[in-house]
Amino acid sequence: MSTDPYWNHNTHYHPWILEQVPAHARTALDIGCGDGLLARKLATRCDAVLGVDIDENVLATAPSAPNVHLEKADFRDLDDTFDMVTAVATLHHVPIRDGVAALRHLVAPGGTLAVVGLWKMHPLTDIHYLPLIPAIRGLDWWRRGRRGGPGATVRDPQETLAEIRAVAAELLPGARIHRRLMWRYTLVWRRPR
Ligand SMILES: C[S@@+](CC[C@H](N)C(=O)[O-])C[C@H]1O[C@@H](n2cnc3c(N)ncnc32)[C@H](O)[C@@H]1O
Repeated sequence: MSTDPYWNHNTHYHPWILEQVPAHARTALDIGCGDGLLARKLATRCDAVLGVDIDENVLATAPSAPNVHLEKADFRDLDDTFDMVTAVATLHHVPIRDGVAALRHLVAPGGTLAVVGLWKMHPLTDIHYLPLIPAIRGLDWWRRGRRGGPGATVRDPQETLAEIRAVAAELLPGARIHRRLMWRYTLVWRRPR
């Protein structure tokens, strides 16, 4: 039974993200961390977790937790590297090429990048997604009593999945991208040692 304070289309993927954490990971970074819920979960697997967000109001709602440090920053300005880097519903807040290039630099050799993202859907290119809608509606209904979120800033995605795939193929060779339920894609990339 989850002890999360709420469920939404992003927290739905927290278990998937935790599965991607490499066994050797000591440090983790969550970009666009909001109220730090994922950062606190990463701290159960890593010794030191940094969460960054450009919105100080949402950061102010975050409870403190051992081994978790949250700060106001644009992830594109960071220059450390981390064994695990996560981005949930945040990459589409910046131009895709800038964002992916910045994320690539933040992953330590042997580290992992896990992205849960949104893309700009089009009825023609995303027609295969339509049969998933009843399942999404079903999950929304099943979780209706726990729906909630951090009150973070949201933005409509500007890039198609084809555009995201093209940038990832160039900057993150070997990245695996999959369309998922809840209007999300997942991307996982392991930086070679
Ligand atoms: C849709 S919210 C997602 C928040 C959280 N990851 C979640 O799953 O609930 C996107 C977050 O990204 C933050 N953000 C947008 N651009 C950013 C940037 N360049 N650097 C750091 N955070 C950013 C926003 O302030 C917002 O809190």
